[in-house]
Amino acid sequence: MRQATPVGVPRSTLITRIGELVTNEEGGFAAVMDAALVIEDGAVAWTGPASRAPAADHVVDAAGRAVLPGFVDSHAHLVFAGERSAEFAARMAGRPYRAGGILTTVAATRAASDTTLRANLRRLAAEMLRQGTTTFECKSGYGLTVADEARSLALAAEITAEVTYLGAHVVPPEFAGDTAGYVDLVRGPMLDACAPRARWVDVFCEDGAFGADEAAAVLGAGRARGLGARVHANQLGPGPGVLVAAEVGAASADHCTYLSQADVDAIVSTGMVATLLPGAEFSTRHRYPDARRLLEAGAVVALATDCNPGSSFTSSMAFCIALAVREMRMTTQEAVWAATAGGARALCRADVGHLGVGASADLMMLDAPSHSYLAYRPGVPLVAAVWRAGRLAAGAL
Ligand code: NIG
Ligand code: FE
Repeated sequence: MRQATPVGVPRSTLITRIGELVTNEEGGFAAVMDAALVIEDGAVAWTGPASRAPAADHVVDAAGRAVLPGFVDSHAHLVFAGERSAEFAARMAGRPYRAGGILTTVAATRAASDTTLRANLRRLAAEMLRQGTTTFECKSGYGLTVADEARSLALAAEITAEVTYLGAHVVPPEFAGDTAGYVDLVRGPMLDACAPRARWVDVFCEDGAFGADEAAAVLGAGRARGLGARVHANQLGPGPGVLVAAEVGAASADHCTYLSQADVDAIVSTGMVATLLPGAEFSTRHRYPDARRLLEAGAVVALATDCNPGSSFTSSMAFCIALAVREMRMTTQEAVWAATAGGARALCRADVGHLGVGASADLMMLDAPSHSYLAYRPGVPLVAAVWRAGRLAAGAL
């Protein structure tokens, strides 16, 4: 006998007459044309040709539109206050991007109330959901005191399971000239306060932030506390970030804009994901990462927004896909895979990023017949409806 279902929530939903259903089932991009999908109890229960679709309690007619897995945005900095539009405008007028701008946001974040930070965070999360992002990672890193990092993580944990401790974002002003002292705080008392609230530890390994030994010390301490590692690596210039990430067994090296052959080899041989964040290059006028070199070497590539008020204030995965296709020469299929299954790989999640049977029913319907429209119609809000865990979470049918 069927279990009682809350009013308004059908136990099973059939979405049929799907023009293109992207499933990502066989470890790469995969799609079925003229397809249907059944959601049952929050998970994908069946996919296949529309002509063979089983019955369900509730039917949605996609009328030829495309259905894709929800985007998995595996890199975002959403707990902050204030904004830096003047810095952006100055940069577009010729000033270079420097990691130091982060401190402007640190000051605003420390001064903000929990209510303000929570409201900002929720507004961004809602913005992401409307644009098809059903899973996102969220970092701390604009608090940089024990209390401010701990509250950032507590706020992030209210809305996502993918919470990342980024105490090692930059050295805060009260530790100016004493990086070693700050690193001791980050891997000691700050980690003690933050580890219980986080799943991941991250370090900004870059000139002007943290060097190889400092990064390895923080990541190693986080790993010893059961956190998975991810690294901001090789963003603004060549550097040791990717090799440090490989040494500590990181799930992902993020940015990967300036890579040596040894870096590419390390990514491929460890199987760690290379997460590319083209919104940052767009917004800092750096060159785009060489996605083709990584893909042709056999690397697993993810795309994410890096949403933050300094270097990439976009929450749009579709925009990142368009940049990856136009500027980085990824195919539309590679880019969509990287923004869904690739992000899931970067977060070590098997339940999202694809629409195989048993996957969480996290998916979006586009106002377009195929995934390629995400790059073909850049800047156009194409996401018509979003389901998370089988429930309509944004948009309308
Ligand atoms: O990923 N690289 C370090 N952190 C951010 C920038 C943060 C900021 O400028 O506020 C990034 O680009
Ligand atoms: Fe970042």
